[in-house]
Amino acid sequence: MKRSFIVATLILLVITAVAAYAIFSMRKGAQTPVTPSDSKAVEQSATEAAELQTFTSEEVAKHNSKDDCWLILDGKVYDVTKFIPAHPGGKAILEGCGKDATMLFETRPMGSESSHSARARAIRETYYIGDLKQ
Ligand code: HEM
Repeated sequence: MKRSFIVATLILLVITAVAAYAIFSMRKGAQTPVTPSDSKAVEQSATEAAELQTFTSEEVAKHNSKDDCWLILDGKVYDVTKFIPAHPGGKAILEGCGKDATMLFETRPMGSESSHSARARAIRETYYIGDLKQ
């Protein structure tokens, strides 16, 4: 008799704990709903922030060393600092740091005197940081 009373009390305790946990989780979920409209708003503000990133040529000119190298290519600004050690054309890329390097990129006067490949164009997009302020 005494034993079954203890077992019943334990079962009741477990049920109460599970129910309390379930109610607590449900309330927590209700406080921070992630609705489709919310995630859309987050996406939208991220896009707007990206669109607002513009730099003057004076700003770009400050980033003119091998440790901090920005290039302007076709009106867009690229931070290629991390790419410098991997550049297949070696230090030639340093010629463009802090400048509009469009002509250098297209004509490679210190190399093959031809434009960069489609692969090079794809790589460059990974270093895009914003547009040049006109
Ligand atoms: C975002 C900027 C750049 C990227 C992603 C890039 C990428 C590359 C890649 C992938 C190559 C191998 C050949 C090819 O695929 O065309 C290459 C070669 C080369 N690059 Fe660049 N490059 C950049 C900027 C520059 C700049 C600004 C210059 C010159 C000032 C330059 C000069 C060269 C030279 C001389 C070669 C060796 C091949 C040759 O002599 O034509 N690159 N680059």
